[in-house]
Amino acid sequence: MFDRMFIALSAIAGAAAAAVVAPRKAGGSLDLQAHRGGRGNTVENVLPSFAWGLINGASTLEMDNGITKDGEVVVWHDEWIDAGKCTDTGPVVNSDPDYPYVGKLIKDLTLAQLKTLDCGSLQQSDFPSQRTYPGTKLSTLGEVFDFVSCVDPEHTVAFNIESKVNNTILGVYSAGVNTFVTKQWAAFKKSGYLDRITYQSFDWRTLVEMQLLHPGALRTSALMSDLNLYLGTPYLPIDLGDFLAESLEEAAVLAVALLGIDVVSPQVTAVDDGFRAFVKLSNTLGKAVLPWTIDDMSVAEDLIALGVQGVITDYTDEVRALADELGVEVVSPLGAGAAPEVVGGDGVDVPG
Ligand SMILES: *[C@@H]1O[C@H](CO)[C@@H](O)[C@H](O)[C@H]1NC(C)=O
Repeated sequence: MFDRMFIALSAIAGAAAAAVVAPRKAGGSLDLQAHRGGRGNTVENVLPSFAWGLINGASTLEMDNGITKDGEVVVWHDEWIDAGKCTDTGPVVNSDPDYPYVGKLIKDLTLAQLKTLDCGSLQQSDFPSQRTYPGTKLSTLGEVFDFVSCVDPEHTVAFNIESKVNNTILGVYSAGVNTFVTKQWAAFKKSGYLDRITYQSFDWRTLVEMQLLHPGALRTSALMSDLNLYLGTPYLPIDLGDFLAESLEEAAVLAVALLGIDVVSPQVTAVDDGFRAFVKLSNTLGKAVLPWTIDDMSVAEDLIALGVQGVITDYTDEVRALADELGVEVVSPLGAGAAPEVVGGDGVDVPG
């Protein structure tokens, strides 16, 4: 077992040697990713969120997908409709037995039912600067692509799109891996943004299946946290215990290399020696590093100094200002100064 693994890893290391990821300091610019559109600035994962992500200078719009009962791809983080984020406005038809919809799983509701919800009125207490947009509905992924295309006719904005699949032996809270891959691919393909999309997941089975069905079509990114990195996890198509590694994180990087995934995206709260070693190993194996969710500007500064390729943040505006202050170039898909002039506050018009 270990011999075979060693041979496989040697082969990967050999292949990777030719394609080592240059640390960002060597000349690359920072990929500034707006987490759920930028949850610190605007309510999450709806059209105004993505408008503000771009206004605040994001390189990439980060978002999550669920699949409805009738097979539509919607942009939303949670597997269910949380009473803290959305409110019911009325049933889609009289005496709908599924009503109220709040508290139900996305997989058990149709798009028409979901479209009745108001998901723009409730500010999250953890994010006191969140702008609210009362009455805002959930969007399909297709609607988000169309919306962004309006300000980005050249299709230069990048997307980091998660399969929010949660369907394992531990429980069925969403559609399955195959449904996610099939439905998301169809939406990606129609978008005109195919070469600008990164496909990310805690469930690396979706990444592997997407690559098998559409080789080389998308960049893939392996999300990592306590949620999926443990021995015997059902979310990875490989056992981390099979690797000769010093830590689970190191085993995870080796697994990513073996599976041919392009990016490692770990949860980071502080930059320490362990994380420095993780970045070094990842870059040596040709993997870009994209930490989340970087809301503490001192951590952001440490990460930028370390040379990570990008950061996912709730505060796009603050990381953008920090990068400008440090003289670090941020990938600007809409070009410097292209964002509309904004006065600020709740009165700002968001197109659409
Ligand atoms: C799946 O949902 C369960 C129940 O909410 C949760 O405990 C688990 O962490 C989720 N898994 C992932 C990968 O999100």
